[in-house]
Amino acid sequence: MLRGKILGAVGSVLALAAIAAPLSFPHAQAALAAAVSDIAKFMQSYRRPADTPSPSDNPTTPAKVALGKALFFDPRLSGSGAISCASCHNPSLGWQDGMSKGVGDHGGRLGRHTPTILNVAWSEPLFWDGRAATLEDQAKGPMASAAEMNMPHDAVVSEVKSIPGYRSAFAVAFPGQPINIDNVAKAIASYERTVVSGRAPFDEWLDGDEGAVSDSAKRGFVVFNTTAKCASCHSSWRFTDDGFHDIGLPGDDLGRARFMPGITPLEHAFKTPTLRNTALRPPYMHDGSMPTLEAVIDHYDHGFVSRPSLSDQIKPLNLTARDKADLVAFLRTLTSQDEAVTAPPLPR
Ligand code: HEC
Ligand code: HEC
Repeated sequence: MLRGKILGAVGSVLALAAIAAPLSFPHAQAALAAAVSDIAKFMQSYRRPADTPSPSDNPTTPAKVALGKALFFDPRLSGSGAISCASCHNPSLGWQDGMSKGVGDHGGRLGRHTPTILNVAWSEPLFWDGRAATLEDQAKGPMASAAEMNMPHDAVVSEVKSIPGYRSAFAVAFPGQPINIDNVAKAIASYERTVVSGRAPFDEWLDGDEGAVSDSAKRGFVVFNTTAKCASCHSSWRFTDDGFHDIGLPGDDLGRARFMPGITPLEHAFKTPTLRNTALRPPYMHDGSMPTLEAVIDHYDHGFVSRPSLSDQIKPLNLTARDKADLVAFLRTLTSQDEAVTAPPLPR
């Protein structure tokens, strides 16, 4: 089985090299051999992991996940009773909200674009600027934040305690423990760790199915890993290094440097987002300023602002129209066909 997969991958690489670099000169053979081995290495580095991690002080259990899902979708945890985590992290909009900047409990605009929660089990620290160390820490923030759900933690806890269905769900998920804000956050974090993108055409291609993606997408994969240098930051199976970089978006938001001042490369630096299912999630960037993947690629090609904090990986790319179309075709192969997630019945 595994042997079959490896042979399949080698076959893909050879086919890919032929598409990417049709050769007319014999001396290019050596370059092709090197490119083939590089491409094989790239392909290996994008394989999906077998398991989802969870921390030892909050191991994932089915009871916590079910409870956390109810809490995630429950608008009773907001001051107005009208918005839940899922209002902004909406499963049918790629777990974000489709707006450049989201709207909080009072109808006010938030300061940054709502990121997806897809694959967050792997992506601590959280937030565009990395200010929350763990999912458990992060989950407590939006409930109490006046701009988001606007409900103090003690009010959240008394609300939950007043609902018999939650009392019994907590008793099963956290036997012998009180209902408190830490356990509310643990349950929500456990649910979030189950929000994982499924297999995409790209994964089928890695496993040797040549027909799973188009020739344009295969060329786009090579551009992504070589001339466009995207993979220097969008690495691993999730296509992120979980690092913070200034990619040259104009604006005053200092990003990571607000929490770690005095380090030039962290000014205007934001967390590298996952590119899994990215085609489902316009608009793009921490400020929601880019409406399409084409606009994103034009930004990297030539649209960025230069300043001392700009990443040294961001340079004019001079991509051709074909390179750009190939990159978009490749990014679209990262979209998985997952079952629709529906809101759970809320405890009464
Ligand atoms: C009003 C909209 C809104 C609501 C409601 C909301 N969020 Fe968010 N969420 C955001 C925004 C905006 C950010 C990014 C803020 C930043 O980085 O400064 C964010 C960031 C996050 C992140 C970090 C993702 C990452 O990759 O770093 C997680 C996880 C998250 N929210 C989970 C939740 C949970 C759990 C709830 C409910 C308890 C919730 N959110 C409620 C808008 C919202
Ligand atoms: C220096 C590291 C780096 C390089 C190189 C890089 N990116 Fe990014 N990418 C980031 C960071 C950081 C962000 C978020 C920036 C922000 O919002 O301020 C981002 C955002 C994106 C987004 C938006 C995702 C979302 O959910 O908003 C896409 C799509 C993307 N990059 C694709 C690419 C492609 C394609 C390339 C190559 C042409 C590339 N990136 C090169 C670091 C990088």
